[in-house]
Amino acid sequence: MTTHLRSKIASTITYRADYTQPNYWIDSVSMVFNLHATHTCITATSIVKYRENAPTVLEWAGDTSKGGIVLEEISINGAILNTNEFSINSDTGILSVLNMPKTGLITVTVKTVVNPTDNTTLMGLYASQGSLFTQCEAEGFRRITYAPDRPDVMSRYDVMLCADKSQYPVLLCNGNLIASGDMLNDSQRHYAMWQDPHPKPSYLFAIVAGDLVVNETLINNPHVKNRQSLLQIYTRPADQIATQWALDSLKASIAWDLHTFGRYLDLERYMVVAVGDFNMGAMENKGLNIFNTAYVLAQPETATDTDYNNIEAVIGHEYFHNWTGNRITCRDWFQLTLKEGLTVYRDQLFSADQAAGFGAIQLNNIAASSAKAVCRINDVITLRAAQFGEDIGPMAHPIRPDSFEEISNFYTATVYEKGAEIIRMQALLANAATPTGDGFRRGMDIYFARYDGQAVTCDDFLQAISEGSGVDLSQFKRWYEQAGTPIVTAAGVYDVTAKRYSLTVQQHNPSVGLETADLTLTKPPLHIPILMGLLNQVGVINSTFKGQCADEHLLHLTQAKQVFIFEDVANEPIPSLLRHFSAPVKLKYDYSPTDLALLLSRDSDAFNRWEAVQRLYERWIFAYYENTPDTDLSLLTSVLADTVCTALTPILSDMTLADAFKASLLNIPSYNALADSIAHNLRPHALYAAREAVINQLAQGLYPILPILYEQLSSYEPYSPNSTQAGMRALRNTVLLLWLYTKDKVAVQQAQGQYRRTHNMTNRMAALSGLLQHTAIDEMGELLPEADDFYLRFEDNDLVIDKWFALQATLPYVPMNAIKALLAHPAFKWTTPNRMRSVVFRVCFANPVVFHTEAGYDFWLSSLKQLIVVNPDVAARLARAMDSWQRYQPLLAQAMQTKIQQALSLPNLPNGVTEILNKALLNKYSI
Ligand code: TRP
Ligand code: ZN
Repeated sequence: MTTHLRSKIASTITYRADYTQPNYWIDSVSMVFNLHATHTCITATSIVKYRENAPTVLEWAGDTSKGGIVLEEISINGAILNTNEFSINSDTGILSVLNMPKTGLITVTVKTVVNPTDNTTLMGLYASQGSLFTQCEAEGFRRITYAPDRPDVMSRYDVMLCADKSQYPVLLCNGNLIASGDMLNDSQRHYAMWQDPHPKPSYLFAIVAGDLVVNETLINNPHVKNRQSLLQIYTRPADQIATQWALDSLKASIAWDLHTFGRYLDLERYMVVAVGDFNMGAMENKGLNIFNTAYVLAQPETATDTDYNNIEAVIGHEYFHNWTGNRITCRDWFQLTLKEGLTVYRDQLFSADQAAGFGAIQLNNIAASSAKAVCRINDVITLRAAQFGEDIGPMAHPIRPDSFEEISNFYTATVYEKGAEIIRMQALLANAATPTGDGFRRGMDIYFARYDGQAVTCDDFLQAISEGSGVDLSQFKRWYEQAGTPIVTAAGVYDVTAKRYSLTVQQHNPSVGLETADLTLTKPPLHIPILMGLLNQVGVINSTFKGQCADEHLLHLTQAKQVFIFEDVANEPIPSLLRHFSAPVKLKYDYSPTDLALLLSRDSDAFNRWEAVQRLYERWIFAYYENTPDTDLSLLTSVLADTVCTALTPILSDMTLADAFKASLLNIPSYNALADSIAHNLRPHALYAAREAVINQLAQGLYPILPILYEQLSSYEPYSPNSTQAGMRALRNTVLLLWLYTKDKVAVQQAQGQYRRTHNMTNRMAALSGLLQHTAIDEMGELLPEADDFYLRFEDNDLVIDKWFALQATLPYVPMNAIKALLAHPAFKWTTPNRMRSVVFRVCFANPVVFHTEAGYDFWLSSLKQLIVVNPDVAARLARAMDSWQRYQPLLAQAMQTKIQQALSLPNLPNGVTEILNKALLNKYSI
């Protein structure tokens, strides 16, 4: 059998194909936590049921590393097991009990002890700023007690928490509070008993104990007992004033899911708890979400408009998981995108509706659609910056992977963001297939009705959508199986006499990442939906496709090559392809700069207007980057500059468009997105300089209107994070940044004035970051006074101090000793991921100029060395900074390769880090 062979090669790989059900299911679990900062005792009593025909061995997972569990005692049906009656595998941590009973309900009691203070991994039970928290997804529950700890085992939990009254006055767990009071035997301690009526997988288990305060509200809810639900946001006392936006966002999420998908809140009590030490954004534990403070706390003085948007999106995301993730969960972790892709898609829809005024203000049609387009643009920016690079690199994987060494490494942009795109395409196809246009909703209704309370697979989801809409998804399914971003090439031919336009479209799905080692691999064509229209010099025109006359058509690209024929095309058209970014592909079409200017000025699809200007920026940047001897660089770039500035100038004063959309048009493609299109010999400093050259030239070209726009866009309204105000600030601050590029002294004065006079963080950060980028050091050689002022002003606010660190770590030409000084700063901490990310991740992922030097790579290695001791999951994320090493120019590539090898020889390297680094070394780039 192949598993035997595999285990000799690499014992740590888990394969999707190897799924089997557990030998024993668990009906219910009763837990008692005797909480203590360094010595917490846990007794877990499970009622266990044998699965017919399964082996009679109980196999439960346990993790003993860094503050993880110490087993005290295990008993079956009341009899304590002798050490010869069970075994614990020292490699895998699995506890096995042979010759288990087969009949009836079996009671298994496990007593463990953990040390939350030593637990810097932030998985399992850990301490943060004097309080205790848990994080169980994906495999943290096994750091609390021995358990199956797999998502297909869903059980009912009741939990008793006991703790010191003064240190931990608040005791929370999933579900409903049943009883609480003082401990009879110890007047210093109290208890709380919680019961969760909903069966759940162990990864959704959570407890919190600490000195916390609550901002709460009651809402009407006919779906629960007493027809009311209590919504609560818990924080440390000093943070309570900053919780109203999160609470409002929660209310908005509940209303939106009911309205959009008919999903109600199934809980009497929904709690959100903020914690400063957290590995990721937030966690959807049933009824007890735990959040990174960064996605809860906001006040105008301390949070930017982007922070407000992120809070709304993450609150929405975790709330939407209550149905897509919690009530219907994943059979195994290979199905992760079942809950994550779908929930990201749902939070994207929510954010777009909120921006268009779903909640409060209703925007007019054009403003609403351009506000929604901005949300779509931002989704695509994220996808391109984070996922496209992943999909050509060593970590490329299908949204449903086939194997992993460490599941934490698969909480990726592919599973989340590409996963969301794949749901979005299903929605497009399903809606187009139903005359009423609601095929996706019908499919979702089937999904919820059929699988409620179960742990299911992506196939089950596809089945529900195709039944609900009648759409055939059998070819579409390949999107779940194939890694890599398809390359779609299109070319058109116009026949004047027949008034016919023929569009030839091809798709290419090359091997990516480690796939390239498998020469037998073939990747069949995908089902790619292409939403499109045609334009002439005046604007969008009608055409007839498959007998339908319309200004927009949906093409189904299902073969390697297809020709689509459009009739009644009055004159030679320019195609607007992949409107709304209807599929996550790389589209190649040979547009001329004037074609692109036309699309930018006249397309009816706001997303493609933005896409057109992005293509112009890219060409312009690559002209500088390539600077080939046979081209006249200054001629080429000045033609592009003229094209862009001429098209943009009237758009920037078009009053019907949302300001946020105009700001998006002025956003130059990110360094990371640009770098991903260079397969060989990437010169990071040259690419950075080329991008800067374009921003400079754009600023010069728009200079005549910049001061005027800056003046016009000021507002005296009191701060609100709504999309209209935020859009205005975004545009104004983008204008200010460009203006600073022109080296106009007036711009510097305006930025200084804005820094001093503003009351909101959006404007203050924009001014400070502009000033730092352009005049980081004053004439005296000191960091700008504004930077010091900023620190003193916000010294007590961790989230703002993170911004202060991040700003400095991202300065392009900051010397390495200044970066090292940040690490030596008294406020720097390796154990707080937010703080660590604000410096280390910024340098390694967002500062190419500093990172791509010998000193930068050294910095990566020494940081990794520190982190592996503290937090393996975050260390594995840092390891990924080297993913694309082979694409760089030889000297840099060699230096990076050496660093990867050095990292691999570090002692006690966590599995997750090893997986990333080994894959990076093995990789070959094919494109
Ligand atoms: N499921 C969470 C979400 O999508 C994210 C998550 C997974 C997480 N694993 C985690 C968060 C570990 C913190 C730590 O929102
Ligand atoms: Zn999620």
